[in-house]
Amino acid sequence: MGNQKQITDFTVQRNIGLGGDFVQLHLHSDCELPAIFPGQFVQVHVPSSIHGWLRIPISIHDADPASGQLKLLVQKVGKGSEYLASRREGEKVNLVLPLGKGFFIPEIDLKKEVLETHRAPYRALLVGGGCGLAPLYYLASKLKEKGFPFDILVGARNKERLVLANELAQLGPTGICTEDGSVGIKGLVTEHPLWKGVDYTHVYTCGPTPMMRAVAAKAHEMKAVCEVSLENTMACGLGACLCCVTASAEGHHLCVCTEGPVFKADTLGW
Ligand SMILES: Cc1cc2nc3c(=O)[nH]c(=O)nc-3n(C[C@H](O)[C@H](O)[C@H](O)COP(=O)(O)OP(=O)(O)OC[C@H]3O[C@@H](n4cnc5c(N)ncnc54)[C@H](O)[C@@H]3O)c2cc1C
Ligand code: FES
Repeated sequence: MGNQKQITDFTVQRNIGLGGDFVQLHLHSDCELPAIFPGQFVQVHVPSSIHGWLRIPISIHDADPASGQLKLLVQKVGKGSEYLASRREGEKVNLVLPLGKGFFIPEIDLKKEVLETHRAPYRALLVGGGCGLAPLYYLASKLKEKGFPFDILVGARNKERLVLANELAQLGPTGICTEDGSVGIKGLVTEHPLWKGVDYTHVYTCGPTPMMRAVAAKAHEMKAVCEVSLENTMACGLGACLCCVTASAEGHHLCVCTEGPVFKADTLGW
């Protein structure tokens, strides 16, 4: 996945408010884009008067490199993300892309049962919340393209904070959990009945760290491979400053922007 990076101007084609703090940006570039894998991210230029000299990392929410189309999901949390979320139709946004290593989708013959376990060779569960659902949307669309079976679990504090649930439901079976029970099942994503009913082989998760830790523990119990996408604070996004490092299970430093942001959960020192 060490694909070539480029710095490219994109034009905003649509800016869609998704409720709450969330905005979906539809971008287009006239340049041919390189291959883009689910879980990779872009570094967005924000004027230095607003955000200093640093770009901001945003996950690739959807992409069609052949036609130069790219989507980002932006949650307004500070000056940089507010600037990005306020870009209107026709305005330019400069991106460095594609960065990092994304989710691993195995090459599997779906007809072949794994003999030792009598399990299906692949069945995935995608679990996310908030802007963590952005990369999971692109992953779900790639799994669907390949004909791989998967379910999606979306978590939110309440109905007002629920995002992308309808869009994800168009890609695959989608369960919803809200902490106050205002939509879907009341409780945390790890309490959804899907965990009991299906023997997943792969679990992919992105969202708040406590949620990802709990999801990784559930995946471990069912002996599923679990990949988590970290959103550590970043500066260069290119492996130079080491401000994004996290500890590995063996206590080494892992550079999240180049070795991740997606890691196998059991390689992390959680
Ligand atoms: C690999 C990666 C992918 C990301 N994908 C997305 C995405 O798809 N959509 C999206 O909206 N955001 C995403 N983020 C987070 C986004 O980069 C930050 O929200 C943004 O940089 C904040 O900049 P700001 O100037 O708006 O806010 P700041 O003024 O820099 O910060 C405002 C508040 O947000 C908090 N914050 C800043 N960065 C992060 C972070 N990385 N994680 C959690 N809290 C943070 C700060 O602690 C502070 O409380 C991603 C981050 C990473 C590392
Ligand atoms: S952000 Fe600079 S090394 Fe990762």
